Amino acid sequence: MISEEIIEKVKEQNDIVDIISENVKLKKAGRNFVGLCPFHHEKTPSFSVSQDKQIYKCFGCGEAGNVISFVMKIRNLPFVETIKYLAEKANIDIDIDDNSKAKRDTNERFYKINVEAAKYYFKNLQYEKIVIDYLKRRGIQNNTIRKFGLGYAFKGWNNVIKYLKNKGYSELDLLNVGLIIKGRNNSFYDRFRERVIFPVFDYRGKVIGFGGRVLDDSKPKYLNSPETQVFKKGTNLYGLNFAIKDNINRTLIIVEGYMDCISLHQYGITNVVASLGTALTSNQAKLLKRYADKIIIAYDADLAGQKATIRGLEILKKEGFDLRVLTVPEGKDPDEFIRNNGKEAFSKLVESSLPFIDYRIKMAKYGLNLKNREMTIKYIHKVAEIISELDPVEKDVYIRKISEETNIKQQAIYDLLSEEIQKNVKITQNMYTRNDFGQKLYLEPAYVKAERNLIKIMLQDIENYEYIISVISVEELIIDSHKKIFNLISENIKNDIENIEAYIEARCNDTETLKEWIIIEQIEPINKENYQELVNDYIREIKKFKLEESKKEIMKKIKEYESKGLFQESLKFVKEFEIIQNEIMQINKCERR
Ligand code: UTP
Ligand code: MN
Repeated sequence: MISEEIIEKVKEQNDIVDIISENVKLKKAGRNFVGLCPFHHEKTPSFSVSQDKQIYKCFGCGEAGNVISFVMKIRNLPFVETIKYLAEKANIDIDIDDNSKAKRDTNERFYKINVEAAKYYFKNLQYEKIVIDYLKRRGIQNNTIRKFGLGYAFKGWNNVIKYLKNKGYSELDLLNVGLIIKGRNNSFYDRFRERVIFPVFDYRGKVIGFGGRVLDDSKPKYLNSPETQVFKKGTNLYGLNFAIKDNINRTLIIVEGYMDCISLHQYGITNVVASLGTALTSNQAKLLKRYADKIIIAYDADLAGQKATIRGLEILKKEGFDLRVLTVPEGKDPDEFIRNNGKEAFSKLVESSLPFIDYRIKMAKYGLNLKNREMTIKYIHKVAEIISELDPVEKDVYIRKISEETNIKQQAIYDLLSEEIQKNVKITQNMYTRNDFGQKLYLEPAYVKAERNLIKIMLQDIENYEYIISVISVEELIIDSHKKIFNLISENIKNDIENIEAYIEARCNDTETLKEWIIIEQIEPINKENYQELVNDYIREIKKFKLEESKKEIMKKIKEYESKGLFQESLKFVKEFEIIQNEIMQINKCERR
């Protein structure tokens, strides 16, 4: 952890106007500076920088933050790297305080233990002919085993414990790196037993964790290390250390599994990483952005894979990648495909991978028979929705294609599309309103404001704080960054901290939390007299939002059942729907009073 003093110093000596000017052309306007927002596309400036307050805010898209979050966002750097970068710029010496030195020492020790364990598993493998045969049968060559450091965990409950304790490591450390598990009576046993071992590396090639696969069909197929101080699943991708070497095209392929990744590398397709069967996170997307501009998703073609693909695409889209989707024919996974068909055939799949929009159109067609008139109309509706966000030239291209495919006149599709666009305009009109200068203003949903105001009130005085925690708990908040701030306040409000605002800001170490924090800080102080009433209003607002969300979910289910003709089943949800509807009405009544 970098100390607050350092963070303060870094902020003091990197003027926000100077730093932002490196990327945005700023003009003085009154007390502030304005320019074109670098975080959304716009033609008239709504991005405003305050030199007094050392913050920025965009009235067009709602972005906000300080100099640290600006650099994090614009350069795709994690928090600590950003502090280092800005410290270097200002010639500030960061001597990392004791606390963080201790943490670094532990990390180093954990890496060492992991390397020892990896070596041990690797060596085991050389004695286990059955396992070598298993890998051979799956087409894995010796040099691949070496490159990925594959190993084997013997049968038995305490092989790794014994081996590593002999090397002088404590049970506590082994437990904390996830190699062993605590059993009954304070005894410990090996996590990985009778499994092929896949060490997991971070982008620098350090061993941070392990996966272990059974040799037969028993379950679970894979066991993985738990989250540890060095193994953060959501901020890492398997194979990235290899994939970023010589990747001049800045293109990466994402697959699901260990075996897919390893197999493709073996066949000479080396720009491949694996998400290891979990949903992609925005941190992973940001990590990828450092090394790639184009991403090809090559997930399994089964339903779970398709869902994961769509989710992954949404996450990656936010980082502005050129996105493609590769479909492996006949429901095979990339590993099986390349083993059966070779590198050339896989490269062809890469070349013919579909752009994001084309993939969505293809999915829209799924299950629809275009010889059937009604289904065709349904299809056109779906397509209109998908392409409504494209620019006119792109739209034209797709409309031609769809017209040819469906034999529906281009003009008819255009008409549908303009309906779709009308709909979107209405939605955006609700989101934006105009301020006095004719600028577009970004309006946040009520529950977001409610949560921000709650936090503001909490900080105003200890009495307010006590009241708020007596009526709402942190888990009831909706927005993660608000939860984080709420926790920071709870943990520290009773400690005698000189400037709690600065203290908290220094601990907001991701861009979302920083953004929310800056916005909360800017809220005008709230009148003390009727704060309890306000708090109750805000809490109702949050509850209402949650209820509205579950209402939507239930509505979806009802429609689903009804479309299948399962009216009896849908009735259960109709009941639930009514209950929720009632609760919402109650809340609305309270509000009107
Ligand atoms: P797959 O079942 O597609 O695995 O799961 P795979 O890599 O193709 O494995 P083989 O070919 O059967 O050996 C994809 C990924 O999901 C994670 C693993 O990371 C796996 O590589 N997974 C899967 C688990 O973590 N646990 C499981 O039980 C199954
Ligand atoms: Mn597989």
